[in-house]
Amino acid sequence: MITNTEIAHRGNQFPNQIVDFHRENDRVYFTTQNGVILEITVLRDSALRFRYATEHVFEPDFSYAIADDVSLGYNVLEVTEGPPEYVLTTAKLIVYVKKDNLKVEITDLDGNMISEEENGFHWEENFAYGGNVVKMSKVTQQAESFYGMGDKASHINLKGKRVNNWVTDQYAYHKDQEPLYKSIPFYLGLHNDLAYGIFFDNSFSTYFDFAQEKRNVTSFWADGGEMNYYFFYGPKMSQVVEAYTDLTGVPELPPLWALGFHQSKWSYYPEKQVMEIAKKFRDLKLPCDAIYLDIDYMEGFRCFTWNNRRFPNPKKMVEKLEAMGMKTVTMIDPGIKIDRDYWVYQQAMENDFFCKRADGPHFKGKVWPGECKFPDFTNPEVREWWAGLYKEMIADIGVHGVWNDMNEPAIMDVPTKTANLDMRHDYDGHPCSHRKAHNVYGMQMVRATYDGLKKFSFPKRPFVLTRAAYAGTQRYCATWTGDNVATWEHLWIANVQAQRMCMSGYSFIGTDIGGFAEQPNGELFARWVQLGIFHPFCRVHSSGDHGDQEPWSFGDEITDIVRKYLELRYELLPYLYTMFYKYIQDGLPMLQSLVFYDQADPQTHFRTDEFLFGEQILIVPVQESNVLGRRLYLPRGEWYNYWTDEFHHGGTEKYVECPLDTIPMFIKAGSMIPKYPVQQYVGEKKLEELRIDVYYVEGQENSTVYEDQQDGYDYKKGRFSLRKFRLRGKDGELIIQQFKDGSFMTPYENIRMTFHGLPFKIGMIELDNEKVNYNKVQYSDDNTIVVHKDFTELHLVGI
Ligand code: NOJ
Repeated sequence: MITNTEIAHRGNQFPNQIVDFHRENDRVYFTTQNGVILEITVLRDSALRFRYATEHVFEPDFSYAIADDVSLGYNVLEVTEGPPEYVLTTAKLIVYVKKDNLKVEITDLDGNMISEEENGFHWEENFAYGGNVVKMSKVTQQAESFYGMGDKASHINLKGKRVNNWVTDQYAYHKDQEPLYKSIPFYLGLHNDLAYGIFFDNSFSTYFDFAQEKRNVTSFWADGGEMNYYFFYGPKMSQVVEAYTDLTGVPELPPLWALGFHQSKWSYYPEKQVMEIAKKFRDLKLPCDAIYLDIDYMEGFRCFTWNNRRFPNPKKMVEKLEAMGMKTVTMIDPGIKIDRDYWVYQQAMENDFFCKRADGPHFKGKVWPGECKFPDFTNPEVREWWAGLYKEMIADIGVHGVWNDMNEPAIMDVPTKTANLDMRHDYDGHPCSHRKAHNVYGMQMVRATYDGLKKFSFPKRPFVLTRAAYAGTQRYCATWTGDNVATWEHLWIANVQAQRMCMSGYSFIGTDIGGFAEQPNGELFARWVQLGIFHPFCRVHSSGDHGDQEPWSFGDEITDIVRKYLELRYELLPYLYTMFYKYIQDGLPMLQSLVFYDQADPQTHFRTDEFLFGEQILIVPVQESNVLGRRLYLPRGEWYNYWTDEFHHGGTEKYVECPLDTIPMFIKAGSMIPKYPVQQYVGEKKLEELRIDVYYVEGQENSTVYEDQQDGYDYKKGRFSLRKFRLRGKDGELIIQQFKDGSFMTPYENIRMTFHGLPFKIGMIELDNEKVNYNKVQYSDDNTIVVHKDFTELHLVGI
């Protein structure tokens, strides 16, 4: 990583007066007398792109972050000119561009300031490498808060912090450590109940200062490239995140098994041990869908090979595991061992696929197998080759998923922890050095892996996991937060990182449950599982050199607690799957930080612990040892304690009891939470019915249940089942309406509803406008009724 101070400074330069203005359709251009051009593109009424050229020249317009299918289109773009400034007006925003210095201000249509430049765009010529260090500084507004930025291990509100995006193998990182494994240069600002977002799409090392150096200044800059950023206006945080997620894309639905529980360790081998672990899950009735093979399954750490002594017949083993309902996930790293007898090395050499240093020789770096060379994944031909390498593993052997690790790329025994910065890359036809390609290297690797798995897993859906990521990587794979530590502080970090990633468009996120480095005690492990089952990606993984980290490694009491929570995860699968559907459909983060949930309530702006799992379940992890209860902030609205059904009004602090087998959980009043029966793995049981827990509200609440075949692509042809419920409760009555979409026939016929918090005794039931007797709907005294799944209106009247 280059730091600013290492660069020979030539001093800041600033744009001066505007001498030319012109418009081309959705773009406007302002040129200054000293050769700066500002291009503003209107993507949507509330989404703008700002690019700045110096010396009149823009770079070629190319980005790995942007999705292919971005929604574009706006209603209004008017430009007027006054003496001090140009004024651009869209249907949502007014942008002022000052004539004498190119500074920009953005307000809403009522004139409320949203974003205001301090020094605005400025730059320093980079004497060492050429090009510019490009900078932007803005005024921090009164009581402004900052969120987003990927995997930062810092307070959820970044106010007062400075961060750096340079993807780094940061083993056993600590709170506030910078930089980490991901580069997601996107943040949200929130002030006066107005939220906006900025995505600085620049793959060089980028820096963000959130009022750290100067109390009233927020700035961001990059070691090279262009000042090229997107501005999204809310005013709701959800609108900002949706717009960013639309721009950078979403994944396809994962196979449902990928949302089950996964067990990993560095490393399970030989085959006998893998089978024993799998069997123990089944014997102890601990639900689990996947087991992971870390690097030791390979022959001398050579990717795409198998160690035949440890795994004499991988295909057979994968089959045996599958017969037990266990999927196999294998690791693939980017470093290819330098070995003239190794076919992957040979192919890459023959085709000139390895990265080279500036003067021509290949880059060499040490990783697990010793000296390695590194494919240039920014070359489309290399990606195609790499995708093809998965044929044997996926199509022939039958492996179900792949995790790409060390793809920062991580290099051992060098202080920079990565490749030399002069390393050359194709960058999809825009040749550059590693300074520019470093942050996207891992992303392009998993992209190729995803392409390979998609091809060879077909007609099943692929599952890929990555450690390194740049903005947009969420289109290809799930991710985890890297090498954390088995400490209580890391449990706190895990919670914040998962929430932050979700707010940064990357919802398929999890952490190494229990901690990767060092060993948790049973209490920490149990508390971590209680949090981890509410993360979209749910996997126990550990370095394995400190002891065992399976659910049964800490004694019976802990095993029972872990079982209770794994069972809960499997019960909630339809709810979780619906969360995923909403994420890809609407860009809605799967986890919502409290501020995201209710930004108008200033109490939420600095809350780190509480979060919403989906839209209706509030989770409050216990992050300290030896506690029997904890304080929490219950957001505004009405809530039921999940464990006791006790009803609470929110907007206030509470104390709740939470002995070791309990994580505080609250259900939003009015919610209809779908559940499946406990299964040992996805697909174990035929679904006899759909259970829905209905939580009464005086008022209205909508709920959704998305289902499909749980794998494959039929859902894209309309073969899904989407149930939208509208629940209305008012004095002595409850009405539930159902609206259905999609042509998938769910395997069950009936829905079993259990009512919680019903303030009356059911006197009469009407189904689709007909009075029915209790037997027909199988009413039972525990407030449960069973109705046909396709009802359109259910009406309960109290006595
Ligand atoms: C580093 C990864 O972060 C970790 O999860 C893995 O176990 C080791 N590499 C060994 O492959």
